[in-house]
Amino acid sequence: MAKPFQGVRGMNDLLPEETPYWQTVEAAIRELFTAYGYQEIRIPLLERTEVFVRSIGEHTDIVEKEMYTFLDRHGESLTLRPEGTAGCVRAVLQHGLLRRYPALRLWYGGPMFRYERPQKGRYRQFHQMGVEAFGMAGPDIDAEQILINHRLFQRLGLRDIRLEINTLGTPEDRARYREKLVAYFEARADALDEDSRRRLHTNPLRILDSKNPAMQPLIEGAPKLLEGIGEASRAHFEGLCGLLEAAGVPFTVNPRLVRGLDYYTKTVFEWVTDRLGAQGTVSAGGRYDGLVAQFGGPPVPGVGFAIGLERLVALLRDSGFAPLHHVPHAYLVHLGHAREAFLLAEALRDALPALRLAVHWGEGSLKGQLKRADKSGARVALILGEEEVRKGEVVVKPLREDLPQRALPREDLPAYLARFI
Ligand code: HAM
Repeated sequence: MAKPFQGVRGMNDLLPEETPYWQTVEAAIRELFTAYGYQEIRIPLLERTEVFVRSIGEHTDIVEKEMYTFLDRHGESLTLRPEGTAGCVRAVLQHGLLRRYPALRLWYGGPMFRYERPQKGRYRQFHQMGVEAFGMAGPDIDAEQILINHRLFQRLGLRDIRLEINTLGTPEDRARYREKLVAYFEARADALDEDSRRRLHTNPLRILDSKNPAMQPLIEGAPKLLEGIGEASRAHFEGLCGLLEAAGVPFTVNPRLVRGLDYYTKTVFEWVTDRLGAQGTVSAGGRYDGLVAQFGGPPVPGVGFAIGLERLVALLRDSGFAPLHHVPHAYLVHLGHAREAFLLAEALRDALPALRLAVHWGEGSLKGQLKRADKSGARVALILGEEEVRKGEVVVKPLREDLPQRALPREDLPAYLARFI
């Protein structure tokens, strides 16, 4: 026999035992986004490659080596979205949403694609749920978005996730800082590793993000962006810190937090845990005040974040949370009366719209069918045999409690089953 097909590396199937965790986190996130006034937008998985290159940045890891890019049949370069912000901004401008909503709050979710080396917590197809808010320049919306995360983790009962924040200043602040940084590293070029040398003239800020232990002393000694930022950025950052303190949300300022996408200005933040190994960033985002204009739109500020669902689900499982598994309430067993079983099941669904009822289709002895009923996790088996059909009855057999089975008139069945729902 031929070997069965395997899925694509780094792209996971979510099996029935996992999906209840996913449904739990997705429902909690959707509820919170809605409660904070965000409206859902759905955008395609594919965009023109330019959309990502122009926003995420030509010299980022994502654009340089992680995008799934291909030519379509007309020779147009398309890319599977590696993140949601770029497509969201593209859609907002294309549909003139900023004219209709001066303060626009959007949320989205779904698969993203990055050709990274797969490991625990890092996949080639992964899922995000995120928000983007447009038209609000102050730090209050930054703080509010950070609090959405905080509230989410609390609702899911997750601990050990810490908040790190930083400010990247304005593009002008960053240009000045970049010069200082390049001068600092150039003077110490011998101590740079290969990766950092490559980045020195393309993306020197990313050197600060290096995980190479040998680089750490050099990075420790590097000038800090926070010390060189202008008055407006400083006031914004202090405003944010003040709001977080007032809300009682602990945070640390991490001057080395630079993020892997180029569009950020001022606030950046990450929610990080040590419980997941190397891939510990559960949610991340920040402000991108120049991106809308860069896409040809008005000078409208933006801020957003995205939660990595694989990592959030992993944390939830790790916390011992027991999700509601959607097992059937009842399992209908029948002996030679498929038509009656079919009609009875439909009548029960009419009477109890929330009932989860599995009907045994196909052959099987009573014993075999009851075994299946038990395996399904159902609370009760309903048995329809010769005698029951004749008398207009159904035998109910509790499967999880030590109670005797008994026959019930059909019309009493909805009231009996209602207690299991
Ligand atoms: P990001 O930091 O690239 O930001 O991704 C956000 C989150 O997605 C990460 O913190 C992580 O939880 C998850 N993630 C990223 N890559 C992977 C992967 N290969 N496997 C599993 N999970 C992953 C963004 O994508 C920005 N668009 C966020 C944003 C929105 N900034 C402003 N608005």
